[in-house]
Amino acid sequence: EKDGYDYFMLKEIAEQPKAVADTLLGRIDPSGSLTLDELRITPADLRQIDKVVIVACGTAFHAGLIAKYAIEHWTRIPCEVELASEFRYRDPILGGRSLVIAISQSGETMDTLMALRHAREQGSKVLAICNTNGSTIPRESDAVLYTHAGPEVAVASTKAFLTQLVACYLVALYLCQVRGTKWGDEIQAVIKDLSRISDEVERVLETMEPVRALARTLAGKDTVLFLGRHVGYPVALEGALKLKELAYMHAEGFAAGELKHGPIALIEEDMPVVVVVPSPSNRSLLHDKIVSNIQEIRARGARTIVIAEEGDEAVVPYADHLIRIPVTPTLLQPVVATVPLQVFACELAAARGNEVDQPRNLAKSVTVE
Ligand code: M6R
Repeated sequence: EKDGYDYFMLKEIAEQPKAVADTLLGRIDPSGSLTLDELRITPADLRQIDKVVIVACGTAFHAGLIAKYAIEHWTRIPCEVELASEFRYRDPILGGRSLVIAISQSGETMDTLMALRHAREQGSKVLAICNTNGSTIPRESDAVLYTHAGPEVAVASTKAFLTQLVACYLVALYLCQVRGTKWGDEIQAVIKDLSRISDEVERVLETMEPVRALARTLAGKDTVLFLGRHVGYPVALEGALKLKELAYMHAEGFAAGELKHGPIALIEEDMPVVVVVPSPSNRSLLHDKIVSNIQEIRARGARTIVIAEEGDEAVVPYADHLIRIPVTPTLLQPVVATVPLQVFACELAAARGNEVDQPRNLAKSVTVE
């Protein structure tokens, strides 16, 4: 059933354009308005919401971190993201006007389930973003938006993650639509770009051979660091998580702005550092700052692996390895920027002789707290 791929993970990475397209299917009509009929939370209720709280674990948590940027920017509703395993133990402030979003591929993650039960006990509405029909988390939620990634077999989550991002964008945009917040040209443009994003994922997949080759040369390394800013920061965390679980390497993700507050001390001669660069077209200050971060780490000996948009020339002099991704609106960039990191981790794990689909000590769904 691996369809000729060596690993389920590779097959699932390749399935991402379809998974993304399927998750969008029927939800954006040609005029650009969104239909989320299955949502089962009325527009009247959605208009009442004064806070969004996202709970999830692992990769799904990273999708939530990215969603926060989109939700707050587009809807202006405050949004918190919390590890589901921490949530109920700190007595979170919730009420009838809080919308809690539980993100889970399997729908069976115990930490996430306990967090959503806690939220419902406090009178909050819970929306599940889930990939598994009829699983426990959507059954116990007020509403569900299914991701249509299809079954994900490899322990490391790939296509589920991309579809979770898409589902989060849809929820954020739908909130704008029903609340009338910021509904205008920017939102219409984002919807258009979102409806084309699966083609961009396809284009990224076509250019992954150099990433594979690079990964194989790094099999003997002990540590890889990942840096990003804005939505690139959770992408860096996701890249590091993939590498930990698959390659069993020390991998850490940092917000690039934090470098000077500590992590830069870790940089050693020839240490690979992956940097996710925000688009130079938007938030140009952020872009300039990350370019100086790349310069700084390179001056201290790091081997820089730079993920940057096509046409971003400013990074070229400081990139030991350059991975190009298509131009996308800033908030959607994680959909394309994550793909090379998945391929990188998969190839490195294989080069180290690890079980790619079944990493040691891990289970596909974690049904204990
Ligand atoms: O099924 P879930 O989405 O609730 O699973 C959450 C995490 O256990 C999961 O994302 C885990 O971190 C993956 N192995 C990461 O690749």
